[in-house]
Amino acid sequence: MDELLNTAIQIARQAGAILRAGFGQARSVDDYKGGIELVTEYDQRSEALILAGLQAVFPDHQILAEESGQIDSSSSYCWVVDPLDGTVNFAHGVPGFAVSIGLRHAGKPLLGVVYDPLRDELFAGQQGQLPTLNNQPIRVSTVTDLRRGLVATGFPYDKASNPDNNGIYVVRALPQVQDLRRAGSAALDLSYVAAGRYAGYWELRLKPWDFAAGALLVQLAGGVITDLNGSDAWQQSGSVVCGNPIFQAQLLKVLQAT
Ligand code: IPD
Ligand code: CA
Ligand code: CA
Repeated sequence: MDELLNTAIQIARQAGAILRAGFGQARSVDDYKGGIELVTEYDQRSEALILAGLQAVFPDHQILAEESGQIDSSSSYCWVVDPLDGTVNFAHGVPGFAVSIGLRHAGKPLLGVVYDPLRDELFAGQQGQLPTLNNQPIRVSTVTDLRRGLVATGFPYDKASNPDNNGIYVVRALPQVQDLRRAGSAALDLSYVAAGRYAGYWELRLKPWDFAAGALLVQLAGGVITDLNGSDAWQQSGSVVCGNPIFQAQLLKVLQAT
């Protein structure tokens, strides 16, 4: 297990170094996947390094990576990779992006690593242990009063065409919480909840690579995650509401307007 985690950490750091070197280069906006969803040269370069690194050590493992899709095998291990979470920030020269690497075994999350290369912050965790930030144990916030909690959210790429674009939930939550952030990296938002920086976070329709690492960190740090209906089956929809158990329940209530 330590070999798996250490490999993920090493590769996340190497990928992070690529992003750090490319950050702020004039031409990083390379292409659009359709609509407003960007992909840069650095999404591709980071992913190529991660895939090569994982395949060199674990040649039989499956991989699900944002830019390459599913690489199948008969292995029960599946790495879930977001090579650059926070592409819009990155492409505009705004700090706030990360590498995210999660590992599932037989469908269940086993470990997660989120690396913020500009701040050199490495969030890591594996089943059965408290997660860490730069090797120091982290826990979710102890704030139980919504008005004292800093909360984060994000907006889906289809926000212009899909009316279920989080606007209504922002309207409901904004007056109730201490303040609200839209920082632009779901993996970091989740990691910040795990580290007790954000008391809560919600977002709709995340992709597996957005949450594979960060959601496990939240749970290992003592946090609770449900979807917007309060269901534990949040992985299916990718819609998440999280925080410590008391804060999460209150935030969920406000979002549901019940
Ligand atoms: C996005 C970021 C953003 C979140 C979007 C994600 P990307 O990932 O995590 O914070 O709001 O839902 O798609 O495209 O930068 O990897
Ligand atoms: Ca992402
Ligand atoms: Ca990405």
